[in-house]
Order: sequence, then structure tokens, then C-alpha cells
Amino acid sequence: MTTPPLHWRRLPLLALGMASLLAALAGGLARLHWRFPLVTGSWITYHGPLMAGGFLGTVIALERAVAVGRRPAFLVPVLAAAGGLALLVGLPRLFGATLLALAAAGLAALYATLLARRLTTHTATMALGAACWLAGNLLWLAGWEIPTVAPWWLAFLLLTIVGERLELSRFRPPGRLGERLFLAAAGLYLAGTALTVVQPGAGWRLLGVGEVALAAWLGRYDIARYTVRQHGLPRFVAVCLLSGYLWLALGGCLALAVGAPPGGDLPYDLLLHPILLGFVMAMIFGHAPIIFPAILGRPLPFFPRFYLHLALLHLSLAARIAGDLTGLLPARGWGGLFNAVAILLFLLSTVAAIVAGERLRG
Ligand code: HEM
Repeated sequence: MTTPPLHWRRLPLLALGMASLLAALAGGLARLHWRFPLVTGSWITYHGPLMAGGFLGTVIALERAVAVGRRPAFLVPVLAAAGGLALLVGLPRLFGATLLALAAAGLAALYATLLARRLTTHTATMALGAACWLAGNLLWLAGWEIPTVAPWWLAFLLLTIVGERLELSRFRPPGRLGERLFLAAAGLYLAGTALTVVQPGAGWRLLGVGEVALAAWLGRYDIARYTVRQHGLPRFVAVCLLSGYLWLALGGCLALAVGAPPGGDLPYDLLLHPILLGFVMAMIFGHAPIIFPAILGRPLPFFPRFYLHLALLHLSLAARIAGDLTGLLPARGWGGLFNAVAILLFLLSTVAAIVAGERLRG
């Protein structure tokens, strides 16, 4: 049996994406008053764009470049990784924001080439996600404050993931009614995001309704409802997804209740992290065993210990959100700290699994 080639040239891009993740984690913890050596002001200020653009923008663009399979497509993750690096080393915002805007434009162009090949709802949904990333980065480049731009980065991540789930639901097509309900839910969500530009309060409430509707749609039509009955990796992936949909629904209810609080306020944290940690990070935990082998060309065997970082993520996030709701700052602080521990445990567990996979191949 021939050994598949290791795509070592993709490793520096993944490493830069991970560097953005680690800097963003340290910056986020500093905003919860945890003090660590070497943390710079730019990691704290740019926690959001480092996470959404430098880390997730790079990984999503790399995954798509692999799917398109043409060398020029890899320019997109290079731009995203360079944007993250510019923020990480503390260059003026203009550099990072420009590179991330170019990466978002490139990602939208990649989807346009896929759509030109075949027009599908799932690719159109992911393309809309890339368009939201571009809109957010252009607003940020134009000088808008991060709290007013954050809904667009949220939409980038949410629509990308929902589009991927829609792509995978082709094994159990949702049918005409299901397709229409999906378009209605995604439409509500996008309308809310757009409305935040002119009426932040009403916009956040409407996108909250969209989040609840999308969570209900995914809970009803995602194949995870069936694969959760299987064993091993399919069940783990399904548990990550279904638990993430609960956070998406809760995040939507909170947005409906809270509206648009100013940045820096406890309620602001309530709007963001049930989605960004409970939904987005849980999706990453579930998709990593599928995405990393596709990117690296190396197997990533499943281990039951993967449930540890997932359980820690959910428990620590519940503590953090309870702290935000009650004003109990220690719950928020310690919850946030263990959010970071869960993500670090995920990274360690994933690398250990890849190494174990190499050994198993002998
Ligand atoms: C251990 C994990 C994390 C910690 C400790 C953390 C911490 C924080 C804090 C304290 C804030 C400010 C909220 C406020 O002003 O009340 C914040 C904002 C934000 N976070 Fe996180 N976060 C984490 C994970 C994430 C993840 C995974 C993402 C994205 C995928 C993310 C994206 C954002 C964004 C976009 C903002 C708004 C940025 C701003 O207003 O400057 N965070 N985060």
C-alpha cells in the first residue's frame, strides 16, 4: 500500500493560523483580567479579528483551497494568515485589516468559481458567509469600531458552518419544504445582520430570531440526528454538532432578549460567546478529525478522550455565561480560563492523535 504524501507545504499556513488562535486566546483571557507574561496590547485589542480572521479565516480558506484543488487558490489562506500575523506582531491596523479584506474577497471569488461549476444552496450559503466576512473587514478598514463590525464576522462563521452541514445533508436531502424553511431562516438571520448597521438593537434581535430558526432547522434536518446512534467518530461528531445547536438556540434567545449592548459590557459577552465558543468551537472539535486529514494528507484516528475537551468546553462556557447573567465575575473569569484550557486540550489531543496515527501506519 503506497503512503499518501504529507502536504508539508500547508503546515506553515496551519501553524500561522494556530499562532493567531493562541495570541487571541491570551488576549481574550487578558480581557477577563488574567495576567500572563508576553501578552501584547494588540493581542488584547485584536482578540476578535485574530480569532475570526487570523485563525478561522486561514483554516476555512485552506480547506476551500484544498477543495478547489488549484495552486492559485492557496493565495487566499496565505493572505488570511498574513493578516493574522500583521495583527499579532502589532503592525498598524491598516495592514491586518487590508490583508484580511483581500483574503475575504479571494474566498468569495473561490466560491464564485465553485458556483459557476454548479449552483447549489450550500455553496451559495458559504459564499454569502464570505461576503459577510468581506463586508465586516471593509467596515473595519473604514474605521468602524469592532463591536459594530462583530455581527458580520459572526455571520461569516455561522453561514460557513451551516453551509457545510447543508452540503453533508445531501445524504438525506431535506426536501422542498425543508429547503424553503432553510432559506427563510437564513434570510431572517442575514436581514438581522444587515439591520445592525442602521438599528443595532432591532438588528441583533432579528438575527437572534434567525439563530433560533437555524438551530431548529439543523436540529430537525441535520444527519447528526441519525449518526448519533452509531459509534466511534460518527457519534462523537454528532454529539459535537447537536450540543452546538443547543448553544446556537440559546445564543439566539439571548440576542432576542438583550438587543445590542455596548462593547465591554457583560451582556455583550452574552451575545458573542455562546455562538463563538458553544457553536463554532464545538463544530471545530467535531470537524477537525475530518478536515485536518484532508488538509495534511495524514489520518487522524478517533480516541474516546476527545469527549474530554468537548465536555470541558460546554461546562466552562455554562459557568462563564452564568457569570455574565448574574454579574458573578469569578464565574465569568474562571469559566473563560477553562474555555481556553478546553481549546488547548483539543489542540494537544489532536496532535497526539496524528502522531498515534503515524505510529499505527508503522
Ligand atoms: C477562551 C476563549 C475566549 C475568551 C477567554 C474570550 C474573551 C473575550 C472577551 C473578554 C471579549 C470582550 C467581551 C466584552 O467586551 O465583554 C471577547 C470579545 C470577542 N471575542 Fe472572544 N473569547 C474567547 C473565544 C473566542 C472565540 C473562539 C472567538 C471567535 C471564534 C471569539 C471572538 C470574539 C469577538 C469577535 C469579540 C468581539 C471583539 C471586540 O469587541 O473587541 N472569542 N472575547
